[in-house]
Amino acid sequence: MSKFKDIFGTEPSVRASAPGRVNLLGEHTDYNGGFVFPTPLPYQTTLEASAAEGLEVYAENFGERKSRGLDQPKQGDWLDYLAGCVWVLRQHGHRVAGLRAYVRSEVPMSGGLSSSAALEVATLRALRELYRLPLDDVQIALLAQQAEVEYVGVRCGIMDQMASSVGRLGYGLFLDTQTLTTRLAPLPKGYRVAVVDSGIPRRLAESGYNTRRSECEQACAQLGVGSLRELSPADLPRINALPEPLNRRARHVVSENQRVLEGVEALEQGDIRRFGELMVASHISLRDDYQVSIPELDQLVEAELRHGAVGARLTGAGFGGATVALVAETHFEEFRKGVLQSYPRARVL
Ligand code: GLA
Repeated sequence: MSKFKDIFGTEPSVRASAPGRVNLLGEHTDYNGGFVFPTPLPYQTTLEASAAEGLEVYAENFGERKSRGLDQPKQGDWLDYLAGCVWVLRQHGHRVAGLRAYVRSEVPMSGGLSSSAALEVATLRALRELYRLPLDDVQIALLAQQAEVEYVGVRCGIMDQMASSVGRLGYGLFLDTQTLTTRLAPLPKGYRVAVVDSGIPRRLAESGYNTRRSECEQACAQLGVGSLRELSPADLPRINALPEPLNRRARHVVSENQRVLEGVEALEQGDIRRFGELMVASHISLRDDYQVSIPELDQLVEAELRHGAVGARLTGAGFGGATVALVAETHFEEFRKGVLQSYPRARVL
């Protein structure tokens, strides 16, 4: 018997899931029209659901049941994510009356692994099926992002929702965030993508994130471009002449876009060492130019490299949360033990 039936007394009409993601390369580039290279995680958020008037939801992870009418305002809680999905569909003219759902998530929360994108995409998938909405997976990702930005109130880019909605397990998703064109690149055989959580909750992540976004906008204004995507390494002399810290911010974005292009090509040619070097270069750029690392993430990345990772970097927005490392299968146990010895607070997923 389903959990939904235990709680609501009837069988659910649909079941829908969506995964969290880890970003391999291309950080803080998505809201600058740039390139990213995330991969979905083998952890899902799942909904069992039926159509209803308004929202009535049980969240297993919080052991909590909440209800809300569609005319009630947002509350700053987990139900906002589901309410935002219903809201955004109605904004686009879809006839959606509401949702009764049981939600369970395996995606670790607050670690920068996109548990919110997984919840949004899973909810929109359930609503698509329940109300037979003619939406493809890219449209689902765009609606999920709109719900998060305009309803929940977090100014995120499009990477997380695209990775969750159109990514494929075992493949990196090369995404051009300006055109939304994608290409799947198989992850290398014989290697493991290790997500290592620092155990440090993201500190001031939201304000730091918004400050970085506005610094990028200021850099664009001073350089006379619409987006940092328009710049290339040939523009570095102009970029370096910007005042601090705008010069650093723009330098990170331009160099990070190059790293994604080069990294995807290296992977496709089987050059895993080069991909690893680019991951490390990305971390250094995030630490020194974008300034979103913290000492604990730097120590963890160093420990991962010392214990045999081919490449390692912070992943997601930074300011705490998780790191990602690429490790040969044959070295994985040694890597895991070594990292835990050097950094006991870590959690190797
Ligand atoms: C968060 C946002 C993404 C992206 C990353 C940084 O995860 O949700 O859109 O901007 O930070 O790369």
